[in-house]
Amino acid sequence: MNKTIQIAIDGPAGAGKSTIAKIVAEQLGFTYIDTGAMYRAITYKALQQNVSLADEAALAELLKLSTIELQPSENGQLVFLDGENVSDVIRTNDVTSSVSQVAAHGAIREQMVSAQQQLAAAGGVVMDGRDIATHVLPQAELKVFMSATVEERARRRFIDNEKRGIDSTMESLIEDIALRDKLDSEREVSPLVQADDAIYLDTTTLTIDEAALEILRLAKERMN
Ligand code: CDP
Ligand code: CDP
Repeated sequence: MNKTIQIAIDGPAGAGKSTIAKIVAEQLGFTYIDTGAMYRAITYKALQQNVSLADEAALAELLKLSTIELQPSENGQLVFLDGENVSDVIRTNDVTSSVSQVAAHGAIREQMVSAQQQLAAAGGVVMDGRDIATHVLPQAELKVFMSATVEERARRRFIDNEKRGIDSTMESLIEDIALRDKLDSEREVSPLVQADDAIYLDTTTLTIDEAALEILRLAKERMN
C-alpha cells in the first residue's frame, strides 16, 4: 500500500501554489491546507477592529482569542473566522496589501506554525505558504518551491480579480506583488526562501495540469 506523505509547497504570490496544491491533494486523497488564508484571516480581523498592524503584542493577543478554521468545499477551501465565513472578504485589496506586515511578526508566526503543525498531524497533507518547507514541515517528504515571472503572476492575479469583481490594473498588480515578494523575502522571521532540499518548479510556461502532474509524479516516487 502507498504510504501517506507530507508535501510542502512554497513560493511567491501567483505562482500557482494553491490551485495546484488543491488538485494534488484531491488526486491523492490528502488534506489541503492554505496557510496564507490563515494570515489573511487575522489581518482581516485586525483591520476590522482597528488594531495597529505594527503592534505585535496586540495582534498576538487578538490571534490567541480567535478561531480560524479551514473547511474543504466543492468551490475550494472555505475559511471561517470565529464561526463566520470570511472566504471572500480575506481576498480584498485592503487585506492583500496589509497581510505581509502582520505576517512579519514573530509572535504571530509562532502561533500560526504551531496551529499548522497540528492540522498536518492527521496524515497525508499538501500545505502551501511561504515557510512550510523551512519551518512548518521541515520533515516533509516532498518540498517544492514554485515560482513564475512577476509579469505572469500579475497577469494571473488580474484575471482572478476580474472574476471576483475586484478592481485592479496590471501596473498596480506588478507593483503590489513585487512589494509583497520583497517584504516576505526580506523579513527577519522565517522569510520566504527556497529550502535547500526543495525542488524548484517554474510555472511561467506550464499549464495548471502540467504543474500538477509533475508534483504528482514526484509525490508518487516518494510514496512507493
Ligand atoms: O495567495 P497569495 O499568494 O496572494 O498569498 P497567500 O498565500 O494568501 O499569503 C498571503 C500572505 O501571507 C503572504 O504574502 C505572506 O505575507 C503571508 N504568509 C506567510 O507569511 N507565511 C505563510 N506560510 C503563508 C502566507
Ligand atoms: O497560491 P498562489 O498565489 O501561488 O497562486 P494561485 O492562486 O494558485 O494561482 C493564481 C492564478 O493563476 C489562479 O487563477 C490559477 O488558476 C492561475 N494559474 C495559471 O493560470 N497557470 C498556472 N500554471 C498556475 C496558476
